[in-house]
Amino acid sequence: MLDTWLTRELGLGVPILGAPMGGRAGGALVGEVSRAGGLGLLGAARYATPEWIARECAVARDVGGDGFGIGLMTWALYDDDTMLGAALEQRPRIVSLSFGDPAPFVERVHAAGSLVLSQVNTIEDLRVVEAAGVDLVVAQGGEAGGHTGHVGTLPLVQEILEASRVPVIAAGGIATGRGLAAVLAAGCEGAMIGTALLASPETVGPDYARSRVVEAASTDTVYTSVFDRARNQPWPHRWGGRALANAFTREWDGRDDVARADLEAAYDAADPELGVVYAGQASGLVHDSVPAGRVVTAIAADAEALLRRYRD
Ligand SMILES: Cc1cc2nc3c(=O)[nH]c(=O)nc-3n(C[C@H](O)[C@H](O)[C@H](O)COP(=O)(O)O)c2cc1C
Repeated sequence: MLDTWLTRELGLGVPILGAPMGGRAGGALVGEVSRAGGLGLLGAARYATPEWIARECAVARDVGGDGFGIGLMTWALYDDDTMLGAALEQRPRIVSLSFGDPAPFVERVHAAGSLVLSQVNTIEDLRVVEAAGVDLVVAQGGEAGGHTGHVGTLPLVQEILEASRVPVIAAGGIATGRGLAAVLAAGCEGAMIGTALLASPETVGPDYARSRVVEAASTDTVYTSVFDRARNQPWPHRWGGRALANAFTREWDGRDDVARADLEAAYDAADPELGVVYAGQASGLVHDSVPAGRVVTAIAADAEALLRRYRD
């Protein structure tokens, strides 16, 4: 068994967190990751509601028990923290507050009995979230699917491990036992996986989002803000999102001169060539639609076998 701070602290069977993925990680996915011995985090998109959180947490509990987490976007709480209250009512083991300074919210999460996790993209981010009092950090490299930074996972993980006073988890591009073994050997307490789960039948979202990830190569992603503009998502400028390239990105990415109304008119979530599929470079490692529990179990078992090579 892979025994780390993460498995001991949370009583997990494997050192794997299921990434909070807005629009894709609902209660069924979260529950399956937890049932397989990891800990799944619900991804509350900006358009999610307190009712959605309550409903999906009930599903997660039914499938995988009480060991789950909830992910919120920190910047979206500054004006209205209703979603934090809704999340805490569900008694998650972990609340992920990523993309922004979590300082205004950490005490409240601790008072509710949950741990605070923040994803960081730079060493400066680490200093900010440590000062805020978070319990663990996820070094999220720019290979990751969804919103992310610019530094690759390997240099970022090394930099964060050298400097961090709190336990470090790695994310971004980890989709096999080799990836998990690498970050555990480097000193991380576990991995957070997102893209590896995107073709699993338990994800929510359109069918094409699963099949496009299966078909995609690692070279088929693009880092862009064009979908945020088209969908009127006011993300702070420094975070773009990694998505699968399609006709929409080929036409509009990088054209800052285009009015938002035109992008909105051109966008169509029902069409795979026009709708967004946020996914990371690890898409090239996802070849089939495999149930999430099997994905988690296989990554952990393969990592354990690889790491055994170095014993004694
Ligand atoms: C479809 C998708 C949606 C995401 N949405 C969120 C989100 O709402 N909040 C968040 O903190 N991270 C989000 N992320 C980032 C993940 O939490 C995680 O950092 C990433 O998936 C890890 O890299 P990987 O995709 O290479 O495994 C999202 C990622 C994906 C692929």
